[in-house]
Amino acid sequence: MAIQRPKGTQDLLPGTIEQWHYLEETIRSVCREFGYEEIRTPMFEATELFQRGVGQTTDIVKKEMYTFLDKGDRSMTLRPEMTASVCRAYVEDKLHGQPQPVKLYYMGPMFRYERPQSGRYRQFHQFGVEVLGADQPLVDAEVISLVWNLYKRLGLVGLEVHVNSVGCPTCRAEHRKQLQEFLDTRQNELCSDCQERFERNPLRILDCKNTSCQTLTTGAPTTKDTLCEECSTHFEGVLTLLSAAGVAYRVNPRLVRGLDYYTKTAFEVMVEEIGAQSAICGGGRYDKLVEEIGGSPTPGIGFAMGIERVLAALQVQNKLPQEKPKLFAMVIPLGEKAQNKAFSILCELRNQGIPVGMDLLSRGLKAQLKAADRQHVRYALMLGEAELEKNVLLVRDLTLGEQNEVPLASAVEEINKKYQRGV
Ligand code: HAM
Repeated sequence: MAIQRPKGTQDLLPGTIEQWHYLEETIRSVCREFGYEEIRTPMFEATELFQRGVGQTTDIVKKEMYTFLDKGDRSMTLRPEMTASVCRAYVEDKLHGQPQPVKLYYMGPMFRYERPQSGRYRQFHQFGVEVLGADQPLVDAEVISLVWNLYKRLGLVGLEVHVNSVGCPTCRAEHRKQLQEFLDTRQNELCSDCQERFERNPLRILDCKNTSCQTLTTGAPTTKDTLCEECSTHFEGVLTLLSAAGVAYRVNPRLVRGLDYYTKTAFEVMVEEIGAQSAICGGGRYDKLVEEIGGSPTPGIGFAMGIERVLAALQVQNKLPQEKPKLFAMVIPLGEKAQNKAFSILCELRNQGIPVGMDLLSRGLKAQLKAADRQHVRYALMLGEAELEKNVLLVRDLTLGEQNEVPLASAVEEINKKYQRGV
C-alpha cells in the first residue's frame, strides 16, 4: 500500500500555497507597521519547558504533546505552541538587555495530538505576537488592535472579539473558592473532565462545551465578581483603550483560556461561519510565565491565530484574492535546431527578472500553445527554423490575438519593455 501522510496533517500544493503567501505577506506588513520583529525558535524543545510553561493540568500537556526521547535519552517535545519558547528565548538570549518592551512575532507549524476534524489539525500553523517587558493596559490594547487591524485589512467581517480578565493568583484563589462552593453539591452531575477539573482547575469548568456543564454553571460566580482592585483597574483601562481603537469587543466573563499561564487580560476572536472550531485567535497576558521558566519577573502579553482557520474564514467570506498569472511569457521552440537559441533567449529574459517559461518536454506547437493558454501568459515567443533563418522571433500577444516578428537582436529588450509597461 502507498504510504500516506499522517492523520491531521496536510500537503499544501500549488494552487493553495498562493493563499498562504498572501496571508503571510499581509501579516508581515501589519507587523512591520506596528513595529514587531520576527523571532524563530526551534520546532522542538525540552519537554519540561511546556510542562512548566503551559501547565501540567492543561489538556495540551496531559494529552496532546508529541513527546519523544532523543538518542541521548533527553525528553523532547514538538512545540504545541510558541509562547513558552519565546519566553525561554527572552531569558536565554538576554533580550531583557534590549530596549523594553520587546515586540516579537512568529509564524510556523505547531503540533498537538488532537482528534482531527474540520479546522483542527495535528500539525497546524500559527501566527502569533508576544510583547515582553511592559505591564500597562496600553500594551494589551495594542496587541488586540493589531489582530483587529489585520482582520480588517483582510476584509473579514462578522468577527466576535471576546475579552475577559482572569485576574492574578490572588484574586483567582478567591474565585476558585467561590466556584467550588457554588458547584460543591453538583459535582457528580458534571462531565467526567469537569469532575477532574473541580480540584485541579475549576475555572475551566466555566468554558466546558458540554451543555449540562453549561447549565450547571449558569449563575456561577465569574472572574468579574472577584477581581482585586489592581486587576479590575487594569481591565477597565484595557476596555477604554479598545473602544478608543475602534475594536468592537464583547466582555465575556466566562472566557477562560485553556493554558495555565494567563493573568489579567484574556481574549479570543471567533468567526461562527467556519464551524465548530470557530476560534481564529486566542491570547492574553502572562505576567508570571517568564519567572515560571527561570527568568526574572517580566510581564508579557500576546496572542496566536490559526492560519488554517483564518484561511477558511477568508474562503467562506470570499475574500481571497484572484489568482494572478505566474508567467509573463512562454518561449516556444519548434524543432531541435531552434531549441538551443530558444533556451538562451529564455535565460536572458530570466536574467532580466522576467518570469518566463519554456516547454521542457519537446512537445509540438499545438500542445505548447495550449499550455501557454492554460497558464494565462500574455505572450507566446515562437522560434522555428524559418524564424532562425530570418533572425527573428515571432511574438504573439495571446490576449489581443496579434502577432509580429521582432529581430532576434532586440527581442529581449522588446519583451522587457512590454513587461515593464505591464502589457
Ligand atoms: P491557543 O488558543 O491554544 O493559544 O491557540 C491559538 C489559536 O491556534 C487558536 O485560536 C486556533 O485558531 C489555533 N489552533 C489551536 N489548535 C489548533 C489545531 N489543533 N488546529 C488548528 N488550529 C489550531 C496558544 O497557542 C497561545 N500560545 C496563544 C498566546 C500567545 N497566548 C499568549 N500569547
